[in-house]
Amino acid sequence: MKIRNTIFLVVCLFAGHALSINNSINQSFLLPAKGLDNDQFDQFILGKSFFRIPWVESPTATTARDGLGPLFNSNTCVNCHNKNGRGKVYDHDQVVDRSHVVRLSIPANDSEKHQQLLKMQGFIAEPTYGAQVSVNGVSGVPYEAKMEVEYTDVNINYPNGAQATLQQPNLKLTNLGYGALHPQAIVAARIAPALVGLGLIEQITDEQILAHEDVDDINGDGISGKANRVWSLETNKTEIGRYTWKASAPTLRHQSANAAVSDMGLTNPLHPNETCTSKQTECLKAPKGDYFEFDLTEPRLNAITFYLSNLALPSSKKSNKKGVQLFESTGCSDCHQPSYQLSSVKSIHPYSDFLLHDMGKGLADGRQEFLASGSEWRTPPLWKTYRVSQILGKQKNFLHDGRARTVEEAILWHGGEASKAKALFMNLRQDQRAELLKFVDNL
Ligand code: HEC
Ligand code: HEC
Repeated sequence: MKIRNTIFLVVCLFAGHALSINNSINQSFLLPAKGLDNDQFDQFILGKSFFRIPWVESPTATTARDGLGPLFNSNTCVNCHNKNGRGKVYDHDQVVDRSHVVRLSIPANDSEKHQQLLKMQGFIAEPTYGAQVSVNGVSGVPYEAKMEVEYTDVNINYPNGAQATLQQPNLKLTNLGYGALHPQAIVAARIAPALVGLGLIEQITDEQILAHEDVDDINGDGISGKANRVWSLETNKTEIGRYTWKASAPTLRHQSANAAVSDMGLTNPLHPNETCTSKQTECLKAPKGDYFEFDLTEPRLNAITFYLSNLALPSSKKSNKKGVQLFESTGCSDCHQPSYQLSSVKSIHPYSDFLLHDMGKGLADGRQEFLASGSEWRTPPLWKTYRVSQILGKQKNFLHDGRARTVEEAILWHGGEASKAKALFMNLRQDQRAELLKFVDNL
């Protein structure tokens, strides 16, 4: 009896311990940074509430949070940024998750109108559906389409005989609500990235980012990083892009405003108009939230931005020395730049140069965003990969459209400027590859 009780107690303690580890990992991206004063803490909590609040369609008695849509993907930021972690390819079975969105555009021509749009907006929206497929609409406004994605296996052989299988995504839009797409429509999927360390990324100076640029590959290493230069609706001039998969947003506030209008249909100081195109009559006629000037007012946009800027950066696991060396010797760190010294206090370790790189045909989606071509992507920061994976659970989603189930698959998709690094990785001994993968998995 006594032994039984002891075993029971030990099991409970163990389960409790596991539970508290899981809880703390689930909370890791949600906590406020240390050192906020009372007013700042209040602003953090306010921003958090607007990030989590479900918006409702107009007209409604709830004037405080109406104005959703008319076309939208989700009614709250947190639906796509669950626990501030990364989005998922599928919600359940083969049903695509709402955090997996589809962008639409058409190729630009030489007309002055298109050239002006490229400068101010970065791409030419699809004429009927606009810039993003909305999978939801308010009452009386048909949604635009649903997305399906299926995968084809691609087998990869390592020089030493080992094998890996990648999954090549095949995207399909179904239930098109407004007729056929433009014949040249470019359909591009994007998965929501984890919202980690974003305020720290903003503290890196433009000069620090530009220091790694080598547009014409003068040093001849096969890598020609280029900063994206994007139109800012905040300063009305061209700025360095830092956020999103193609670095098309210059600041966190700007990206939050872009998200509000394109993902939720919330007008705001940077985007005063709804996303309806001239061909979407129901959308144009839908009632507007008329209590405030914008659905998402200036103080609310600023509160959300404050919240995202002031999230704590959790710790990483201890790194394995061999992995660190291999990350460098295979050339990963040429793009995934480990560290930056910030003027405030400390150095940070995001593992990104925040520059655009041509990653080859395999990853290309043909979509231009400002200076980013159809095959160029921003090096994504690798910090907190461990926690991102833990929060995601079973289904991992690396790369811009979540096609890679492991870090290894993500590397094997690297091409273009990263071909050399990939080849060096593939030529490592099995145990060395394992050390390198362990290093990235534990970041
Ligand atoms: C429908 C899903 C969805 C909703 C709702 C949504 N997001 Fe996102 N978010 C995304 C996707 C997808 C991306 C990647 C976009 C890209 O790279 O082009 C993203 C990117 C971001 C980024 C850039 C992160 C980085 O590291 O570059 C920020 C910041 C962000 N979202 C904030 C917000 C805020 C604030 C809201 C609410 C106002 C919001 N999002 C609502 C899907 C969503
Ligand atoms: C030429 C620059 C470059 C080099 C070299 C490079 N990468 Fe990348 N890496 C990128 C870019 C750009 C992406 C995003 C591609 C995409 O999403 O389509 C990426 C994506 C990744 C991802 C997925 C991250 C995420 O958030 O989904 C991992 C993991 C990764 N790289 C690890 C490595 C490792 C390990 C090496 C060395 C073997 C390496 N990379 C070498 C530029 C580079």
